Amino acid sequence: MTLHRAGRRRESFDEVALLYNAARPGYPPTLVDDLMELAGMNQGHRVLEIGPGTGQLTVPLAERGLSLIGVELGTNMARIARRNLSSFTNVEVVVADFDTWALPVEPFDLVVAATAFHWLDPATRLERCAKALRSGGILAILETHWGVSDREDSFWTDSQSCYSKWDPDYDSEIRPVTLRDLPLKRTDIANSPIFELVAHRRYHCDRRYDAVQYCNLLGTFSNIRALTETARMGFLACVQDLINKRFGGYILRHDVYDLWLARTSTIPR
Ligand SMILES: C[S@@+](CC[C@H](N)C(=O)[O-])C[C@H]1O[C@@H](n2cnc3c(N)ncnc32)[C@H](O)[C@@H]1O
Repeated sequence: MTLHRAGRRRESFDEVALLYNAARPGYPPTLVDDLMELAGMNQGHRVLEIGPGTGQLTVPLAERGLSLIGVELGTNMARIARRNLSSFTNVEVVVADFDTWALPVEPFDLVVAATAFHWLDPATRLERCAKALRSGGILAILETHWGVSDREDSFWTDSQSCYSKWDPDYDSEIRPVTLRDLPLKRTDIANSPIFELVAHRRYHCDRRYDAVQYCNLLGTFSNIRALTETARMGFLACVQDLINKRFGGYILRHDVYDLWLARTSTIPR
């Protein structure tokens, strides 16, 4: 990955905000319920969401009565998020880079990042989250692992020909990610003097996609957005063809979510 391409990747979602809104699934309701319970959230608690996208987690949290501020880097993503959240009076979405955003004086009960924490500056993100929280407040990090292979995954194997043909950064040594590869520990939290881990939960979700649905989802992934237009079109046509011709028009993917909750262990402010 060239530096230029890597630098653009966190901004790439905003280029396809409408597609993102249509193609990205929400989170399992059990996960949202567990987040509420494990973080001790009730109606009216103050929540900061980093990188809400178009509201994939924000909407279910708003439905549960939380008072939310979303800090979203992408103008188009924020515009759609505001539209999706327009029926809630206790939600605000601001366009800003969390890494440099001036934190509000009033602290939050919960800071949450859903499939977004890895885009923040690793040198400062934990400290900035702690500064945004009240003493004893909770940081929730939600990670998405797309298409985890826990059995023979012939689609993964067959689709490598599309990646190798169209992605100039293709690594021929790549192996499918299996459940065994997913870490059971977050070393950043384990090593942090400001946070202590209070919970880790894992959720599994099987999803069936037709060729168009799956290519729409792929079209929102930052590694696919990083390809040139020609390569992206060629790649997506290759995958679409593969699903239609070799998989009878449908594939099943197994997605895994990790929910990590950490409490501020010192008074950060
Ligand atoms: C993969 S998307 C996740 C969106 C949504 N939370 C979801 O679960 O689908 C990552 C989001 O984080 C946003 N983002 C990336 N870096 C950010 C930053 N430094 N500050 C605020 N938002 C950021 C992106 O614009 C994008 O909307």
